[in-house]
Amino acid sequence: MSSLPGSLQAALEQVEHGERELLAAPNEIRLREVYAAYLGPNGSIKNVFQEALKAAPKEQKKDIGKAGNDARARLDAAFERRLRAFAEEERAKELARAVDVTLPGRAAGVRRLGHLHPITLTRREIERIFAALGFTVESGPEVETDFYNFEALAMPKDHPARDMQDTFYVAGLEDVVLRTHTSPVQIRTMLAQPPPVRAIMPGAVYRKDDDPTHSPMFHQVEGLLVDEHVTLADLKGVLLHFARAFFGPAANVRLRPSFFPFTEPSAEVDISCVFCSGDGQRDGKPCRLCKGTGWMEVGGSGMVDPEVFAHVGYDAERYTGFAFGFGIDRMAMLKYGVNDIKLLYDGDARFLAQFPALGAR
Ligand code: FA5
Repeated sequence: MSSLPGSLQAALEQVEHGERELLAAPNEIRLREVYAAYLGPNGSIKNVFQEALKAAPKEQKKDIGKAGNDARARLDAAFERRLRAFAEEERAKELARAVDVTLPGRAAGVRRLGHLHPITLTRREIERIFAALGFTVESGPEVETDFYNFEALAMPKDHPARDMQDTFYVAGLEDVVLRTHTSPVQIRTMLAQPPPVRAIMPGAVYRKDDDPTHSPMFHQVEGLLVDEHVTLADLKGVLLHFARAFFGPAANVRLRPSFFPFTEPSAEVDISCVFCSGDGQRDGKPCRLCKGTGWMEVGGSGMVDPEVFAHVGYDAERYTGFAFGFGIDRMAMLKYGVNDIKLLYDGDARFLAQFPALGAR
């Protein structure tokens, strides 16, 4: 190399500098600019060697030509190395992209429509059936007084029936409760109007309950019919009509003797099991929904106790009436085959998304 002219010594230093510049190029555009500056048609290195070659005596041409080729090879190698590094970085970025190919596709620009909650669908279906029978829909407050929730329904403070409806009280306000059932709306409705009454009263209620079929907040629908000559047969007829309209024409109703302080006589309302059609057996095994009994309990009922009429000023000699109270959540669970009441309240979109097909009435 010592035989090279002085101008080429400086050019070789430039090659070193060029190599460093190429290897440090921050992106491909800059890399190509640097490369062109050294080796492009007007590239500085290229020109220096070409000039030197022209001017050199014959015996030096070989060395200059070789030095020129070496310089070009070094810059080419640096250029290629940096280009490969960019390609690898790009590939690594591609591989690191967290794309879950198992996710369902999303149609661009299409918004999923919301729909009614299964409890709302159930409540509306119940309202529709009773409205067709001439029942009005009434409502009352969820924060109630002890009087409407218990006293007026013949459950004085020391009555044992209160134990089954333990609820949430407001500290320092002993007489204020979150209502435990929709029955207080019976009292409010009767106080607001003279007989006859034909009404249903849906709404949220609260109890100190918590298991797969009981929730601390749930929904009931109360029914009340007061008029002259109303009998237990009317109650059973209305319940049977409702059961068939709601669960299908094969449904049956059974009234099982029971006790409620505000009805006399009182009965639990059972509807024939929708899963085994009341057989108690399905696929040769005891039915899992009704536990082999063929019946599903949906609520309580009875003839309005004359003591309740006394609280609202109705003439118990002239009027009789029936009342019932069903769990709306229970009805939704039975109708749609839901085995845990929490599913209705978790807000899990995968569960709720199964209901739009039922439509909104
Ligand atoms: C009552 O609440 C009475 N008020 C019903 C009544 C009305 C009787 C009018 C007579 C005349 P009971 O406590 O059994 O009764 O509740 C009625 C229904 O509410 C139950 O059959 C069940 O379907 C539902 N239910 C009760 N507790 C819960 C709960 N914690 N979670 C979900 N549903 C419940």
